[in-house]
Amino acid sequence: MLQLSPEERAMLSGELGPGVRKAMEIVVALGRIYGARRLVEVGSVQVAGVSYRNLGEAGLDFLSQWADQGVRVRVSTTLNPAGMDLHAWRELGFSEIFARRQLAVIEAFERFGVRATCTCTPYLVGNVPRLGEHVAWAESSAVSYANSVLGARTNREGGPSALAAAITGRTAAYGLHLDESRCAKLRVDVCCPVQSLADFGALGYLVGKAAGNRVPYFVGLEGAGPNALKALGAAMAASGAVALYHVAGVTPEADMQDTLSRDHETLVVDDLRPAYAALNSDVRGIDLVWFGCPHAGLEEIAEIVWLLDGRRVGTALWITAARDVRQQAEVQGLVAAVEACGGRVVADMCAVVAPMQELGFRTVATSSAKGATYLPSHAGLIVRYGTIAQCVEAAVSGAWAS
Ligand code: F3S
Repeated sequence: MLQLSPEERAMLSGELGPGVRKAMEIVVALGRIYGARRLVEVGSVQVAGVSYRNLGEAGLDFLSQWADQGVRVRVSTTLNPAGMDLHAWRELGFSEIFARRQLAVIEAFERFGVRATCTCTPYLVGNVPRLGEHVAWAESSAVSYANSVLGARTNREGGPSALAAAITGRTAAYGLHLDESRCAKLRVDVCCPVQSLADFGALGYLVGKAAGNRVPYFVGLEGAGPNALKALGAAMAASGAVALYHVAGVTPEADMQDTLSRDHETLVVDDLRPAYAALNSDVRGIDLVWFGCPHAGLEEIAEIVWLLDGRRVGTALWITAARDVRQQAEVQGLVAAVEACGGRVVADMCAVVAPMQELGFRTVATSSAKGATYLPSHAGLIVRYGTIAQCVEAAVSGAWAS
């Protein structure tokens, strides 16, 4: 039976206005569906469902009407990527019609008081939850990072449920908010070399498929850094529904008592080649090389610049990043270095939710296993998957080297 505090009951009864009541109705409905006994206050929210390509007119109307009720978020709330760069959309070839509707979506979110960060890496732009803090995040790769690498507590929220949590400052205490749901039921023994970020993505792809929504516990990845974990978690969240994982000796909850359930199953991974085979088509000509899924940090942009080594690219080359990160990259001369080679550091957007075919792209090379998983079905693109170095070479030559 879900217990509500007097303030929560006031929100539900409409004392704080119809917009807050609607938000609390969503939070309470989810709590009842999942058998929560109470709500918890959240420290921050990440809202997804931003691209006009996915929302359409119905989604935009839903948001605008809710915002018209004068309702505001109560906690720090950041936003997922949109379907275009909010500043450079014209130069990149997005249509006026799409841009106008996409900007209307952003404006609706801003009326709620949401920060239009438009990134799937809120943890790179100041939204960094503490260990054990309850948050309500949407965006599967960010959820995975928050739970696993930062040790915060969030379920995989949907767009409306995350916005409802932001407005009420609450989420229902079920799933990964509870200790018992955070213990691993699948031990993964990694018995092959996992070196590049693409290897981590390939490993994540395989484990995500096997794990479904179970919590994996990795043994054999000691020394994995934040970028590797970002790639691993994003891939598992895409090929499966993994929202939390632990890595022995690395992630904050891995070495706590009872993190690995006594009745766990064990999966041995000794070969990453099946993942590379599954994520690759046999296309050779490449239209676009895409980095930054999840959005790139400065280190990744610097590595691409180093690998380009001043060479001109023969394809389009996009590195997607948060606008704040792009600005830092600009200060460090990295944006100019990418542009001197013919590439772009693109802010605010994600190629998976952008109208890529309207821009004339048919084939893409990427070092992101999440991107390679979703691009064929969501953006209608034919994909090559490999290391950052392989993708840079494809950008320079215009073709994927076998
Ligand atoms: Fe981010 Fe889009 Fe990839 S939201 S994780 S760039 S699929």
